[in-house]
Order: sequence, then C-alpha cells, then structure tokens
Amino acid sequence: MIGIFDSGVGGLSVLKEIQSALPLVPFIYLADQYHVPYGPRPLPQIRKFTNAACDFLIREGARLIVIACNTASAAALQTVREQHPQIPFVGLVPAVKPAAERTVTGRIAVLATPGTFHGRLYITVKNKHAQNVIVYQDTVPGLVEQIEKGELATEPTRAILNTALLPLLSKQIDKVVLGCTHYPFVSPLIREIVGDQIELIDPAPAIARRVQYLLQESGISVDTNPSGIHNRYISTDPNQTLGSALHHLLGFRDATIEVAEWQPDGQIASSPRTC
Ligand code: DGL
Repeated sequence: MIGIFDSGVGGLSVLKEIQSALPLVPFIYLADQYHVPYGPRPLPQIRKFTNAACDFLIREGARLIVIACNTASAAALQTVREQHPQIPFVGLVPAVKPAAERTVTGRIAVLATPGTFHGRLYITVKNKHAQNVIVYQDTVPGLVEQIEKGELATEPTRAILNTALLPLLSKQIDKVVLGCTHYPFVSPLIREIVGDQIELIDPAPAIARRVQYLLQESGISVDTNPSGIHNRYISTDPNQTLGSALHHLLGFRDATIEVAEWQPDGQIASSPRTC
C-alpha cells in the first residue's frame, strides 16, 4: 500500500502518474484540506501537520510514502525519514536541476509556495544545480486556493497567473518549473499565457518512476494487487471537496471519500468515516 500525502488536491497530479505507472499497486491518498493552503504557513507548523499525516498513513498500512507536496517536503522530509527509518519516503523539490540542464537562454522561472522557497531542500538544490543560471522565483499568491475551488480557467485564476507570468516573459526565460503539485492542473492556462516556446516542467512522471524503482528494490510486488485491496481517498475536512476534485481533475466518478478529522492532541483520528 502506497501512502500519498498533500495539503489538498495537488497531489492528485502525482497520483495520476503513479497510477498509470503502477496500476495494480493499491494506495491511500490523504488530503489535509482542513489546513490547505500550507504554502504561507510557518515551516514548523507544516512539519507538525506532515509528521501527523505520515503517522496516520503508516497506521492505516502504508509501506511507502510519497509526500506529494513540495511545501510539506521542504518542512518535514528529513524529519519523517529520521522518525520512520523502515519506510521509504519520496519527497518533492522543484525540478530546478532538469530546467538548469536544459535551458538554452540560461534563464528559468520557478513557481512555488513561500514555504518551498524558504526550505533548505530548495536552497540546496538551487545552489548545487543552478549556479550558472538566472533563476526567477514567484509564489503566485492565491493560485492554490483557486485550484482547490476547482477554478482552473476562470478570470480570477487567469488574473493571478497573468500577474505572475507576464513580467517573466520579457526576461527571456525558456523553462517554467511547476514547483507546486497543484500547478499542473492549470498548465493549459499557463501555456495560453506563456505561448509554445517555453517548456513547462512537471516532476510527476519522474516521481512515479522513482516510486516504481523503490518498490522493486524493496521486493514489493508491483504486478498484482495481493488481496484485492481498494484504493482509498481521505480528507481531513468534513466539508471536503475531494470527491468533486477527483471527478473534475482526474475524471474519476463515484470514488468513496473518507473523512479523518484532526484531534486536539495534534494527531489525525484513526478509523476514518465514510461520507
Ligand atoms: N501542493 C503543495 C506543494 O506542492 C502546496 C499547496 C499549499 O500551499 O498547500 O507545494
């Protein structure tokens, strides 16, 4: 069982690639929609949420965890690896390395949340791989909220993206790194704004390959679903919109959504209820 965690619906962009690479491996998708967005929150708070989310996924049976959120990875990837040495973790960091390797103009843009930009993970990757490249960064305020609402192509969403992207167009960038897992869902709108000459880099396919490799390395079968285990979709928000997101973002109808609420002790309650 793979556990996949994000603050909200963004991790579904990663789930989609994992499912197409590993259709028979069962997963639990956990969206902390009670606290979304994570991006503007302080890193220690995001770390607490992420630690509790990983504890929950392990209690529910996850044997490998994908932190399908750049912000949560920035805050907590190192901590959860230390706390659960028996579990392989896959985290996300904006794909600065391939962008820096492939740029012709020597100028790239990275779109990510404030939390991701403040984290050591991003700074380390940028210092290591983008020394000879000019990197423009933007936090695109409000975009995650629009995607959570399902507003992928409305005028307010376009206005947010115009504010972030139009100033970059005069900088001769040729790569835009989608450094938040929510953003691939507005790729068509980004493409309309930046045109055809700029490459959009989404790390999700590479993450799926990494998951496949780790499962094979740890001897977990990727070819059969051992006991007909069902995939699960869990939100921490009782008024969640995960069901409609699965429908309009991935085309899944009739997925059963479970709700697992936060408890006063800072943990997520086990035995989520179906709604
Ligand atoms: N999807 C998350 C990421 O990749 C962040 C969204 C949020 O701000 O909660 O960073």
